[in-house]
Amino acid sequence: MPFITTPDNVTLAMLELAGVTAKDFVVDLGSGDGRIVITAAKRFGARGLGVEIVPDLVTASQRHAVVAGVADRAAFRVQDLFQTDLSAAQVVTMYLLPEVNLQLRPRLLALAAGTRIVSHDWDMGDWRPDRSFTLSVPDKAIGLDKRSTVHLWVVPAQVHGLWCTAGGSLNVTQRFQTFSATLSADGAAAPVLVFDGRIAADVLHAGSDSKAAAIVLRAEGQTLQVTQFSGPASQFPGRRFVRAGPRGCG
Ligand SMILES: C[S@@+](CC[C@H](N)C(=O)[O-])C[C@H]1O[C@@H](n2cnc3c(N)ncnc32)[C@H](O)[C@@H]1O
Repeated sequence: MPFITTPDNVTLAMLELAGVTAKDFVVDLGSGDGRIVITAAKRFGARGLGVEIVPDLVTASQRHAVVAGVADRAAFRVQDLFQTDLSAAQVVTMYLLPEVNLQLRPRLLALAAGTRIVSHDWDMGDWRPDRSFTLSVPDKAIGLDKRSTVHLWVVPAQVHGLWCTAGGSLNVTQRFQTFSATLSADGAAAPVLVFDGRIAADVLHAGSDSKAAAIVLRAEGQTLQVTQFSGPASQFPGRRFVRAGPRGCG
């Protein structure tokens, strides 16, 4: 993966797409000359870390951070990006290669729900972005097409599996930010409700074409809390579901 800089207008677009604020800790994987973390600190007041395998680029990044007046908020480290602890990041930025994005994907999906990931040009296969757009980049160093695409993913809560509550259960099949679910009452032959929808960070919304449109659940650690309900789900108002044990519910 060679060193190729993200042009300034694309850097800004990535940070704006991620909604970076002064509350965020931004990690750039393969940070090159440091521009993404330095811009996050200077323009958005964020803190950040750039990890980079080439020592000279790290030295140059530290120098650039001093010149930009953000050395207290923008740190750089010589490190293999596959070894980087990402658990403190609210935002992860990447301008890597598609196969590297795919290698990183399991680790990114395991981050806290709501973590934002932005990538310059390359996507992550069948983990579809929440948003993407293309912008004109007249000074793009590679390719004939002087355009870049930026992608945003918001890490969804991991809710796949069986969840239990007094008198019922919820079986969730998750595929990235989408899910289908079956709500059952103990002893009933037919499910109370079968519905599908999307996961936005830690909130599960039933799809708008579903009879369960008014069901909203929030994932909190190892629980799923019904926060809105109507129709057939009314028999589970405000219920808290917990993950099933090895022998299921009950
Ligand atoms: C395309 S450049 C992007 C630089 C910067 N993020 C930007 O957008 O301007 C990719 C960078 O990743 C670095 N890199 C490649 N493999 C790496 C690894 N395993 N760990 C850390 N950095 C790596 C390269 O040295 C290069 O500087």
